[in-house]
Amino acid sequence: MSPSPKPAERTLHLAESNSTVLVFADADAASKAAADRIVRIIAQAVAARGKAILGLATGATPEKVYDDLAARVRDGGLSFRDVTTYNLDEYYPIQPLDALSYRTYMHRHLFSRVDLAPNRAHILDGTVPETFASEHAAQFDRWIDDDGGLDLQLLGIGRNGHIGFNEPLDLTVEAFAALPTRLVDLHPITKVDAVREFGSVDAVIPRALTMGVRQILGARTILMLATGPKKAAIVAEALKGPITAAVPASLLRTVADKVVWLLDEPAAAELG
Ligand code: GLP
Repeated sequence: MSPSPKPAERTLHLAESNSTVLVFADADAASKAAADRIVRIIAQAVAARGKAILGLATGATPEKVYDDLAARVRDGGLSFRDVTTYNLDEYYPIQPLDALSYRTYMHRHLFSRVDLAPNRAHILDGTVPETFASEHAAQFDRWIDDDGGLDLQLLGIGRNGHIGFNEPLDLTVEAFAALPTRLVDLHPITKVDAVREFGSVDAVIPRALTMGVRQILGARTILMLATGPKKAAIVAEALKGPITAAVPASLLRTVADKVVWLLDEPAAAELG
């Protein structure tokens, strides 16, 4: 039996968007709600197709979600036996054992704590020679397509609205929505936010491999988790401003019926 989701403190109905926006008292409650939904999605996908294909995120935001999932596996209430994962992004270039790699992050926060087969945990490879980067990225998209697409994509949001490392670009919405997995340059705001891990802006690895917007928007369910006051302005812009490639997360409104925004009160503060 999978647990049913905890009720949100409140559900917002925004005139500008028909997205489901659930607001919780704090980050712990929002993270618990995300974990509850992931557990249900795994159970439903495994029942329907014998496997669950999850798109996973890094950053500070999902850490509590992974703690919750790991605790359920430890207690025997959840298994990753039939799960395959694809991570959103990885710095480039970076060695997998580098303390700052997303491979290391995922090992620490989830993979080492659950029964996920190592050959089913896919993370873009920060060691591929640059001449092979686009082929590696295209192969990553083919693997996801061959797995039947993502049952779930868990997302965070950058302060500039990025999803994965799909940074704001001067493109039409249609062109942005079609972007494949690829090598990208990080945006100045992203580099400033990465000082937390790298120590200084100059030390931040300025490029990354990121899952493309096409694959993210193609997921059958998208969970956007945003917590804390620093996300309030961009959450409001993404949900109430124009749908534009200048605010990547605003494109989630083009597939609003399968997106759930899980916010804490500080992140929802500018939604009214
Ligand atoms: C990072 C990651 C994103 C993440 C976002 C927010 O740089 N590449 O996938 O969602 O920025 O990070 P945080 O949760 O630490 O605020």
